[in-house]
Amino acid sequence: MPPFVSDELEQYAVNHTTDPGPVFNELAEEVRRDVPSAGMMSGRTVGYLLNTLVFATGAKRVLEVGTFVGYSALMMSSALPEDGELVTCDVDPEATAIAQRYWARSPHSSKIRLALGPALETMATLEPGIDLVFIDADKENYSNYYERAMELIAPAGLIVIDNVLWGGRVLDPRDESDRAIAALNDRVQADERVNNVMLTVRDGVMLIRKR
Ligand SMILES: C[S@@+](CC[C@H](N)C(=O)[O-])C[C@H]1O[C@@H](n2cnc3c(N)ncnc32)[C@H](O)[C@@H]1O
Repeated sequence: MPPFVSDELEQYAVNHTTDPGPVFNELAEEVRRDVPSAGMMSGRTVGYLLNTLVFATGAKRVLEVGTFVGYSALMMSSALPEDGELVTCDVDPEATAIAQRYWARSPHSSKIRLALGPALETMATLEPGIDLVFIDADKENYSNYYERAMELIAPAGLIVIDNVLWGGRVLDPRDESDRAIAALNDRVQADERVNNVMLTVRDGVMLIRKR
């Protein structure tokens, strides 16, 4: 499957998105150099989309499902007010150690709480009233994350789901991850509780709000 837009246009989009500064750029550089699964990192365009959504919605409580190296968590926390909080879940101590090293260099790190452990277990402990939930972890659990997010989200909150195009494989799902994402997209589209829009940014981002 060819990229949705050419590498040149993707780079053009990056070049016309605000430069997030040295902490983000050095994190991205280290990850691209040293971490084999670097492609999982959201990067500048999706990062700034998340940052803008947190800012524009006035979110105070944010939940992230899938921290990895902490790029998106730091992007979202940068847009939170001083008394805001972002809980971010992951099972990977190595990737999140990188995250913590870079968060420590940011004035926004005090707003981030890392929850190491399976995200569904962490989500079970959280109180409802979360303003924005960003789902970006193991694809097989996407529908479970969505259903729990629907319980946790505030009435005017926003659920954001990454990788909903899955490199185009949603058009012809073959393995478990392909089927899980295609099934979630269909579930959201048929869900009468919500309004949703699928954006073709990078690997696809779904925005969902309750009706
Ligand atoms: C795509 S990466 C997250 C990228 C990050 N949100 C960003 O935009 O830079 C997915 C992460 O989900 C984590 N993950 C996988 N299974 C998980 C689970 N059951 N609970 C929590 N995190 C999980 C992986 O360890 C990985 O770091």
